[in-house]
Amino acid sequence: MFHLNSAVVGLKKLHNSIYCLTIRAPLIKKSVLPGQFVNLQVSKDNSPLLRRPFSIYNVCNEDILILFNVVGNGTELLSEMRVNQSIDLIGPLGNSFNITDEFETALLVGGGMGVASLPLLNAALRQRNIPVVTFVGAKNKDYLILDYLHDVNIATDDGSKGFSGNVVSLVDEYLKNNKVPNPKIFSCGPPKMLESITLLAEKYNIHCEVSVESVMACGMGICQGCPVERKGTTNKYSLVCKDGPVFDSGTLKYLNHG
Ligand SMILES: Cc1cc2nc3c(=O)[nH]c(=O)nc-3n(C[C@H](O)[C@H](O)[C@H](O)COP(=O)(O)OP(=O)(O)OC[C@H]3O[C@@H](n4cnc5c(N)ncnc54)[C@H](O)[C@@H]3O)c2cc1C
Ligand code: FES
Repeated sequence: MFHLNSAVVGLKKLHNSIYCLTIRAPLIKKSVLPGQFVNLQVSKDNSPLLRRPFSIYNVCNEDILILFNVVGNGTELLSEMRVNQSIDLIGPLGNSFNITDEFETALLVGGGMGVASLPLLNAALRQRNIPVVTFVGAKNKDYLILDYLHDVNIATDDGSKGFSGNVVSLVDEYLKNNKVPNPKIFSCGPPKMLESITLLAEKYNIHCEVSVESVMACGMGICQGCPVERKGTTNKYSLVCKDGPVFDSGTLKYLNHG
């Protein structure tokens, strides 16, 4: 983990309120694992005081890329960053998705800004020659982010592109209609979506990892501000920032009503 004062080297508006921020951070670039995040200080004057967590979306040369949607003050400030401006960041933080020998096909499922944690995972899987099928969901076609992904199936809530409905229903259709050799699901998105993908994985008896979001402060296990309730563990609560953000889907109590 590094605490850096780095330079912004690019900020691109992709569409609507979605931006891609490029930060020169070779140390983070070299050590990041798929699913990890950085905690960004979005303003110099401590307003907002708390850092904001963002998945490391991709890496390029000496840089890391952050994909973000403007939802409040912190992300608004990020969208106003200028090239060469310095930004204080800590990372890479958190655990990572697990690429083990126990599966043969990776099903990557992203909803909304959850797609930001998929490109590094996609690259790592493809480097190991593991077949990847991707499912991306958004409320409409303007919110679809499809870069750096492979074999993408699209779902939009309003039917403006691809499957009409939510992305989990699309995965369900896919599993019904295709023979998928020994799959594992990797997913990131809003809580409702993660709950549905958990139930779907149980229905098909597929191992599933989810990357969950939480409001955070320190981002490194000090403030105890990001608990998630677990089941089947001796410690009832885990910290999203330190023990996660990636968890086995069946172990999260709030996802399972368990
Ligand atoms: C590990 C992790 C990785 C993340 N990766 C990304 C990413 O790659 N891209 C991205 O755009 N966002 C990501 N987020 C969410 C991001 O941190 C928040 O959107 C951001 O902190 C909001 O800051 P703000 O000051 O703009 O909004 P605030 O003023 O803090 O909040 C504005 C509104 O957004 C809601 N909100 C705040 N945080 C979240 C959240 N985590 N999920 C849903 N709603 C939220 C609030 O409830 C409020 O209604 C991630 C969060 C975590 C924990
Ligand atoms: S954000 Fe401080 S412990 Fe997780």
